[in-house]
Amino acid sequence: MARDPALFCAPIGVLDSGFGGLTVLRELRRALPLHDFVYLGDSGRAPYGGREVETVLDFSEQCVERLFAEGAALVVVACHTVSSVALRHLQGRYATADRRVLGVTIPAAECAVAASRGRIGLLGTARTVASGTFTTEVRKLSAMAVVERAAPLLAPIVEEGWEETDVGFAAVRHYVESLGNVDTVVLGCTHYPLLRRAFEAALPAGVALLDPAPGVAARLVTWLDRHPGFASPATGSLRCLSTGDPARFAELGARFLGEPLREVEFLAERGGALAPSVRVVPRGQVVR
Ligand code: DGL
Repeated sequence: MARDPALFCAPIGVLDSGFGGLTVLRELRRALPLHDFVYLGDSGRAPYGGREVETVLDFSEQCVERLFAEGAALVVVACHTVSSVALRHLQGRYATADRRVLGVTIPAAECAVAASRGRIGLLGTARTVASGTFTTEVRKLSAMAVVERAAPLLAPIVEEGWEETDVGFAAVRHYVESLGNVDTVVLGCTHYPLLRRAFEAALPAGVALLDPAPGVAARLVTWLDRHPGFASPATGSLRCLSTGDPARFAELGARFLGEPLREVEFLAERGGALAPSVRVVPRGQVVR
């Protein structure tokens, strides 16, 4: 089908509940260094991991709509919580001949099945684990055993910068032990790659650690080969949009992305939609 030439220079949209998706974006940019990206971190409303399904659907709809409004033709849902709870919904609602939404759960399941000898463990947010979507996707590929466990303390530990403290190591050890006898541990949350050293210290000998992000990036490259109209090499630019404090986003986000974040644009929610906004800092005393 002939495509609108404007789509060929569209940036790839990347959606996350906040900072964690920057660990996925890092791999996407490594794999596609000349593509333009626009990243939306809903950090003002994060974390999503303990939220109700309806709220995740509502927030992720707003994020996808904003990314399409920013010119993306393809949105990658980097967040495991959104991908496991809302991807099918988002695809049903927004995918057209010219617009697509892709996720991380199927690539994670494919990578896990390729890496495992038969017993896969996944750690993720409470909402990701409650959805059971990762297990469903593994079942489509293999009869391997799957254990999913929620690890709700890990994302806050990373945001506090406590990855390499006694607290970080003890929490990771606790959650790894909760998986029991597995041969592969999947990092089913975008924050966890920052805990790699703690995971490596906690894993028994012979147990593999799997960050799905490089596999997500590799699959996106082949997907773009098959669907060349959705994004093309351009200038390698990156725009970052955040619903939280842009200065905090830039500071904390640099740790996740592995490079400085120069400019972060602020988005505010108004009437159920995310719109570009100037952050208003209230001054003086509030008088009732
Ligand atoms: N980005 C989320 C995920 O990968 C983790 C943080 C959150 O709970 O919002 O599941």
